[in-house]
Amino acid sequence: MILVTGGAGFIGSNFIIDWIASEQTPVINLDKLTYAGNLNNLTALQGDARHVFVQGDICDGALVGRLLREHKPRAIVHFAAESHVDRSIHGPAEFIQTNINGTFSLLEETRAYWQGLPGAEKEAFRFLHVSTDEVYGSLGPDDAPFSETTPYAPNSPYSASKAASDHLVRAYHHTYGLPVLTTNCSNNYGAYQFPEKLIPLIILNALNGKPLPIYGDGLNVRDWLYVGDHCTAIQEVLAKGRLGETYNIGGWNEKTNLDVVHTVCSILDELQPAANGNPYASLITYVKDRPGHDRRYAIDARKIEHELGWKPAETFETGMRKTVRWYLDHAKWIQNVTSGEYRNWIGKQYGETS
Ligand code: NAD
Ligand code: TYD
Repeated sequence: MILVTGGAGFIGSNFIIDWIASEQTPVINLDKLTYAGNLNNLTALQGDARHVFVQGDICDGALVGRLLREHKPRAIVHFAAESHVDRSIHGPAEFIQTNINGTFSLLEETRAYWQGLPGAEKEAFRFLHVSTDEVYGSLGPDDAPFSETTPYAPNSPYSASKAASDHLVRAYHHTYGLPVLTTNCSNNYGAYQFPEKLIPLIILNALNGKPLPIYGDGLNVRDWLYVGDHCTAIQEVLAKGRLGETYNIGGWNEKTNLDVVHTVCSILDELQPAANGNPYASLITYVKDRPGHDRRYAIDARKIEHELGWKPAETFETGMRKTVRWYLDHAKWIQNVTSGEYRNWIGKQYGETS
């Protein structure tokens, strides 16, 4: 069995569903259920004994230590984090607590557990840390994409806290020999993404006839990867990655935010045209830019392709079509997430009261 942290969030829940379908082995899912954690993401596994959910905090060393001793996982896949840049600007404290202190605490408990394992199990054990391309900072229009040797230059409280966690993971390998792997992935999109992030926010606002907020000039560039492709990459790194190495994961899909929003709008125009007959793109509204907004991210994903043979299966067009379709087909899931905390966040970020 493996221990997954943050498995009720967007990527973690996709990972667990895919893992159980392909590996057939059990998963302990440790998640605090913050605003971003949603057990409705895992209804497909209801009643499946291979998914064991534990509500708890990665900062709770006693709990983590007990789970490790009781369940004896052969690997830990660490997703749990505060993950939204805008929230980190409004309130960085939770990011420091979970992303830095939480990862530190998890590493300490893992080290104690791993050091006590018998020979073969100790040898086979892996700690996979899921991180982001944002630790590398921002690129100019003609800069080469981020590689695994690009110096760290995080710009937001979110990316700085992830960078700190990456350094701790690296140090635990270098100092204690903990068998770690780190992945730095570009922007994900797909099913179960909480609608504070660009793509689901745009889909939901469009369907509700609300403005589609574009920060600044809309020309910031991100490299987009379908979440299912991220999950297969993590499985490959866990199975075959070289200890202590980092692997950049990306989709070779650099798009401006305006490109992304226009793509969403045209898929929606085709699949579910607006009742008033207007194209959804007519809702595009330019709003105040994000402070310190990184201009461009791009990933050089050649290392994982050459060493492990991983390549994304989806193109931006196929992945986006699947994603928009998924949101159209899951009104109940949307209703559930938009009823609570999400509404409060929209008011704080965009100044809406309704
Ligand atoms: P998410 O915000 O959707 O989910 C995070 C999950 O972690 C939630 O279920 C939450 O309840 C849980 N969590 C938060 N604090 C916790 C704590 N103290 N203890 C236990 N659980 C806690 O995030 P996501 O988009 O699924 O991202 C998962 C990981 O992937 C993060 O580490 C993120 O930095 C990284 N990542 C995300 C992206 C992306 O585009 N979303 C890209 C690259 C890397
Ligand atoms: P986001 O999904 O928050 O991911 P990240 O900041 O981690 O890249 O944002 C993606 C891009 O979209 C980013 O450049 C900010 C921009 N954006 C908007 O223009 N409007 C919005 O309402 C949101 C949430 C993001």
